[in-house]
Amino acid sequence: QKAQAASASAFSFTEVAAGVDENHHIAEGYDADILLRWGDKLFADAPEFDPANQTAEAQARQFGYNNDYVGFIPLDGSSERGLLVVNHEYTNPHLMFPGLVTVVEGKIEQKPLSKAQVDIEMAAHGGTIVEIVKEGGKWRPVLDGTMNRRITVNTAMELTGPAAGHDRLKTSADPTGTKVIGTLNNCAGGVTPWGTYVMAEENFHGYFSGSLPEGHKEAANYKRYGVPEGAYEWAAHYDRFDLAKEPNEPNRFGWIVEVDAFDPNATPKKRTALGRFKHEGAESIVAKDGRVVFYLGDDERFDYVYKFVTAGTFKADDRAANMNLLDEGTLYVAKFAEDGRFAWLPLVQGEGPLTAENGFASQADVLIETRRAADLVGATKMDRPEDIQPNGVNGKVYVMLTNNTKRKAEQVDAANPRASNAFGHIIELSETDGDFAATAGTWEVMLKCGDPSVADVGATFSTATTANGWFGMPDNCAVDADGRLWVATDGNSPKATGRTDGIWAVDTEGEARATSKLFFRVPVGAEMCGPLLLPDMQTMFVAVQHPGDGGDDWAGFGRVSYYEDLSTRWPDFKDDMPVRPAVVAITRQGGGKIAV
Ligand code: FEO
Ligand code: CA
Ligand code: CA
Ligand code: CA
Repeated sequence: QKAQAASASAFSFTEVAAGVDENHHIAEGYDADILLRWGDKLFADAPEFDPANQTAEAQARQFGYNNDYVGFIPLDGSSERGLLVVNHEYTNPHLMFPGLVTVVEGKIEQKPLSKAQVDIEMAAHGGTIVEIVKEGGKWRPVLDGTMNRRITVNTAMELTGPAAGHDRLKTSADPTGTKVIGTLNNCAGGVTPWGTYVMAEENFHGYFSGSLPEGHKEAANYKRYGVPEGAYEWAAHYDRFDLAKEPNEPNRFGWIVEVDAFDPNATPKKRTALGRFKHEGAESIVAKDGRVVFYLGDDERFDYVYKFVTAGTFKADDRAANMNLLDEGTLYVAKFAEDGRFAWLPLVQGEGPLTAENGFASQADVLIETRRAADLVGATKMDRPEDIQPNGVNGKVYVMLTNNTKRKAEQVDAANPRASNAFGHIIELSETDGDFAATAGTWEVMLKCGDPSVADVGATFSTATTANGWFGMPDNCAVDADGRLWVATDGNSPKATGRTDGIWAVDTEGEARATSKLFFRVPVGAEMCGPLLLPDMQTMFVAVQHPGDGGDDWAGFGRVSYYEDLSTRWPDFKDDMPVRPAVVAITRQGGGKIAV
């Protein structure tokens, strides 16, 4: 049976050995080339990266930190020239600023950040839009690309849709409630069918500090989102991140941001119709009737799976007509039944419990407090929803549920079947009649992750999956042009599992279903983001996020040691260069489709 399952696999490549060391590893016969690293110039006249003398001005013209989502918008339909769009989710100051962290008598001490360092952090967040081209089989950035752009925490944006202009979004700097400065913690995202770049604002609570004025009306709202967490030191230098000084500012984050990548002067739009929560991503597909469906995860333990269906329909030959599709439509949250069916429950003011009596006087209130609205309609509390990917080839939808070690035995349900779920699982949705805009469907757990050789873990990889092929903590994922699923992971720590994060190819069809193979793995300390296969299937882009992070022993540029005596200065391996997050281009040696 093993041989049968292996031969039925849709993926043809020799698997990488799982493990951990200072470098990345790719399957034999493939090249993994560094395309863009933190600090790389994005414009011909941008300064070269000088890590010991970095400035915010330089950073705003260079590739940002902690690349997460990677998308590609073809120019003239090409898979060899286009705009690479990349989210820069967050910053690791201890890895960025030499001398910030010292070890004093065996204890780690981090100095407070200077204002100049906070400004660098703010310029290293956001997104990058950069033209790239493939020449002689290798990719390079085009530094004089006219659409190249950095988006940062200082980029002017507009709030649009039903919540725009609401009193709860007004601040002293913006009495209109429609103008926000910046985006942050952009985790995964998407590229829309009309070729715009979508950035998901995830853990926005970390950037806020201070206390609301006594008895403030947003107190319960902020508590539901964990605001303020105070993980960043920005409030010390910028009042808008201090709740005592600017109590409404957190309501202006946690949205989906849409950017017209073809116009470097376009104002990014925060599309309030898609709700406010810790948005993981926003992958989309056109439904049978032309409406566009966005799948949205809220990455928190016991939070929800959502989708947004546009009111208008996609016009393939009229880009301008699509540019405000995200301002009108219906936001739904998923309720999974024990019998294998699910329903999409609409979050519409005036329907069910979403009334003025319950604090929802308008649709703006429903969207600003999306989580509370979803609580009231009885959505299913999930094990940290991450990327959700529709598959246009087989009509299914894959939901990555990364882990939830806090689920107790009495909280287990059919869709979240393991208590203390350390390794996560993947749910496959089938919308009714294969219609992505449907309001119900059926579901099954396609894969429970973790080491199948440990009986207590309860993993369900196929028997054809090798000791290298299993994984835990699914996070980002991609479906390629042949409808095959690729999963990126976040959290496979060498200490716990003997392996780093990576990219696994996961069969979904026939005999081979739930067979998984390791294609690429990251250097020590990193998380795997991306991935993306171009339409011609000849390039895969992956994002190596926070290499060298984790553990407990830092100094200067990055780690003294990470795992036992292992450290890394990936990808440069130079004494005067810090470890750097980077996007990697994977191609087949001699050309050709990947894993076919
Ligand atoms: Fe930023 Fe949910 O991972
Ligand atoms: Ca993620
Ligand atoms: Ca994805
Ligand atoms: Ca994650």
